[in-house]
Amino acid sequence: MVLKKTVLLLFLLASVLMNAQQQPSIIPKPVDLKMGNGNFTIDGNTTIQYDKSRKDLKATADFFASYIKNISGFSLKSNKAAAKKVEFVIEKSIQEEGYQLTVSLTAIVIKASSPKGVFYGIQSILQTLPAIRNNAALEVPVMQVNDYPRFKWRGMHLDVSRHFFGPDMIKEYIDLMASYKINVFHWHLVDDQGWRIAIKKYPKLTEIGAWRVDNTNLNWRERPQAKEGEKPTYGGFYTQEQIKEIVKYAAERNITIVPEIEMPGHVASAIASYPQLSCTQQPQLPMTGGNYSNMSSNYCAGNDEVFSFLENVLAEVMPLFPSSYIHIGGDEVDKGPWNKCVRCQARMKSEGLKDEHELQSYFIKRIEKFVISKKRKIIGWDEILEGGLAPEAAVMSWRGEAGGIEAAKMKHNVVMTPGTPFYFDHYQAGPEGELLAIGGFNTVKRVYDYDPIPKELNKEDEAYILGAQASVWTEYITTPEHLEYMVLPRMAALAEVIWSPKENKNWDNFNERLQYHFKGYAQKGLHYSPGNFTVNVKPFSENGQLLVSLFTEALNGQIRYTTDGTEPTLQSEKYEKPIGIKSSLVLKAATVVDGQIKGLQAAKQNFVMHKAIGNSVQYTNPVSQYYLADGPNSLTDGVRGTNAVGKYWHGFSEKDMIATIDLGQATTIENISLGCLQNYSDWIFLPQSVKFEVSTDGKFFKEIKTVNNPVDINQKSAVHNFSATFTQEKVRYIKVTAKNNLCPPGHSGAGKPGWLFADEIIVE
Ligand code: ACM
Ligand code: ZN
Repeated sequence: MVLKKTVLLLFLLASVLMNAQQQPSIIPKPVDLKMGNGNFTIDGNTTIQYDKSRKDLKATADFFASYIKNISGFSLKSNKAAAKKVEFVIEKSIQEEGYQLTVSLTAIVIKASSPKGVFYGIQSILQTLPAIRNNAALEVPVMQVNDYPRFKWRGMHLDVSRHFFGPDMIKEYIDLMASYKINVFHWHLVDDQGWRIAIKKYPKLTEIGAWRVDNTNLNWRERPQAKEGEKPTYGGFYTQEQIKEIVKYAAERNITIVPEIEMPGHVASAIASYPQLSCTQQPQLPMTGGNYSNMSSNYCAGNDEVFSFLENVLAEVMPLFPSSYIHIGGDEVDKGPWNKCVRCQARMKSEGLKDEHELQSYFIKRIEKFVISKKRKIIGWDEILEGGLAPEAAVMSWRGEAGGIEAAKMKHNVVMTPGTPFYFDHYQAGPEGELLAIGGFNTVKRVYDYDPIPKELNKEDEAYILGAQASVWTEYITTPEHLEYMVLPRMAALAEVIWSPKENKNWDNFNERLQYHFKGYAQKGLHYSPGNFTVNVKPFSENGQLLVSLFTEALNGQIRYTTDGTEPTLQSEKYEKPIGIKSSLVLKAATVVDGQIKGLQAAKQNFVMHKAIGNSVQYTNPVSQYYLADGPNSLTDGVRGTNAVGKYWHGFSEKDMIATIDLGQATTIENISLGCLQNYSDWIFLPQSVKFEVSTDGKFFKEIKTVNNPVDINQKSAVHNFSATFTQEKVRYIKVTAKNNLCPPGHSGAGKPGWLFADEIIVE
């Protein structure tokens, strides 16, 4: 009898397991999802049921009904008796924004503590439906979902200053965000190249500040400045009525819009409109791109009129946006103009401020006081930490995680948007064959793998990380199609990072679900990046041996490679495990999916074998955290750089590169070289000179040779080896000093420090 019962139970369990359907491809992955058998069918007889006394639920029901109408033609009635229903139930015990969804053969029930959770339950249902399916039954699989977000701030940013996107595109962006359960839209409304929000008290901000001479066809940083008489035709702005409508549209999708009114820098557009707001008070025309020479970009911090202007602006802005946070910018303020301004210097004296960083802090604190008086809070880019953080400010960490970590330790709220990997204006594939981007390399997997909680924080301080967002700057993004391409599919990866529990994350599983979303994008006519087919080439050393591992992000992708410089074909060696590199060679690798080589160009990597491979390098001045290449010993990994700025190169800013290598033992050598990059428009210049020194004890160094730069500093790009050949010496230590350059006259950064990029110190 007992045995029979067990057999029966096993049989029942097996049949449930066999019949339970495949999980739908919901992104972000729900916390808990159990599949059942069969489907609930939405058709013309389905009704929506909810507590009629709640207006907010009616808005949610209307959203659902109108979505279904759009994709199927069915008109769902509300609160009418029917055999099949979609029911919304408010249940206070469920956590904020969470929902419990039960789909049976006869009903879909979404329980949540507010319409926010109901809305997310609806989004999960919608992701089980095809995008378009005219008048055919819409089947939702029987399932049970318990779901809630990991973070409160799940954001997307958009810069509408560098390129103005009109209300329709903003709504499309909001719809995309909503479909991925993203709840904050950080709207970057002000920057040097355009002021985008109408302010009634200051009409010139949009009459003048919203329009520039159209130089879109030229490189951003090299655009000539406007000349008197040229027609400013490029730009646009939102009226306050349009803003109100967009804020309402977003609210109906559980999205809070955080407006950014940038200050005290990045405001050349405001100054073009009202020149008395700058330190020089000289008239200027709106900027056409990124050429800052002779332009004022800061408000004067010594002029009280600036503060009354900003208070008047904010007094018009705040009522339009119900957000508790107002973003006040605060990034990248060039302190030079303040240093030269008598009013700014007088302010520093009267306020007892010791430097211009403290003046910036004074500026932000004064604005914070005003914002708090209106019962709102400020958030700013991480530079607002410099000179002292305003008492209640939240910090948006973009220059890596350091600012966010510092602020969280100070018990201030933080939103993470580190440029790597959360700037979606960076390349996501290639870069060969991609639409022009500003640089970087943030692939969908790199986005997916990021965790917004830095390891440096303890449990208590972790709580100050409100969440994270991706940021999209539009210097090079000038069409809706291009914008879609930059955010899709990375927005999906972001969504899972900020919604799903960390322990539920699984790249392969996400990648499979993503394929379904690709189909959805295609059906909806959305442009998207088909994925990063570029093979990721990762050199590493193990037991003193240089190896290289290859990886592709493509689902079910194989890798074929060559080491003789030829292009990989379907017949080339198949990659199975890390490849040992024993001689100088060129490796080329390509992704193969379904028997086809993918991507436009094979990944290519030069390796050089030399005597310093694998040895550690000490730097007197640190490597920039943005340009770490493959890690601390990138200069001795045998890996040579290409013209791609964002990979391979160690970057140094302002200071010289001084690198010391310990060869481990006295070694006979006769040649040392340093590989360097020039990329004029990215402010990267070959060093003025490179000095090579050697030592037997690591204390006393003997100069071998100093090599001057033979390449024209105005040349657009170059990869150059600085090299010294000498009679054989037996040494243990090598020191290489490369002198950093200033941007040359005529360059948009003339007189400012340039960047120095190096890829390898080759010792032979
Ligand atoms: C920024 O990217 N300047 C915030
Ligand atoms: Zn000033």
